[in-house]
Amino acid sequence: MPWARPIIAGNWKMNGLRADGLALADALVNGASQGSGAGTLAIFPPATLLAAIAQRLAGSQVLLGGQDCAPQAKGAFTGDLSAPMLQDAGCRLVIVGHSERRQGHGETDALVQAKAKAAHAAGLAVVLCIGETEAEWQAGQTLAVLDRQLEGSLPEGASAEWLIVAYEPVWAIGTGRTPTAADIERTHAHLRKRLGQLVPDGASLGLLYGGSVKAANAGEILAIPEVDGVLVGGACLQADEFLAIRQAGSRAAR
Ligand code: 13P
Repeated sequence: MPWARPIIAGNWKMNGLRADGLALADALVNGASQGSGAGTLAIFPPATLLAAIAQRLAGSQVLLGGQDCAPQAKGAFTGDLSAPMLQDAGCRLVIVGHSERRQGHGETDALVQAKAKAAHAAGLAVVLCIGETEAEWQAGQTLAVLDRQLEGSLPEGASAEWLIVAYEPVWAIGTGRTPTAADIERTHAHLRKRLGQLVPDGASLGLLYGGSVKAANAGEILAIPEVDGVLVGGACLQADEFLAIRQAGSRAAR
């Protein structure tokens, strides 16, 4: 199993200027070295801070990732960042297919798949995000939407060695609302089954839940069967809160 469980991942999104971002990274390195939490801790700061934060994380247990990458390795693509650039800046992972890119930037499953392929080719691990909208949720289409996104955006030759899947219901992101534990359990059981069919070692693939995870609900969520970790947005911007999520994860793992 390539990733120690639980996997606690923090997506900073478009947050963090240099002073705050470096202070947050330092606090996480410090906290991770002191805490008893096992598992994998990864942060995904904005691209402007990656190189500087990579230096602060050197020798620590905290892994660094980018929030997105281009499907091409280099060339005339103004404003884009390639997977080799992220790797060169010190990243080990990259998120692709986040709903804020699928919805806000019109990214299709095919584009997400091409990004995942490019990331793997550059030696990065991929956190592939999928999730249904509120309307799809209410219409009872969640599992069908997730199947479609998985089939459309899973890169060829995917393996648990370098792929992690994050289920993030769009309606749970930044809203303070989450599915019930029973709903997450049902959805993750379905995804585990599908991943077992689609990926040779899909049974051991890291499967994360994301959407309004905080210290107060992390213990319950991380104790759900087939939840290998969490992808955290807002609550990862405070070191204490993010480290408390990690602590909750190690308690749930016992
Ligand atoms: P929140 O934790 O702020 O709901 O965001 C979740 C998310 O989108 C992580 O990628």
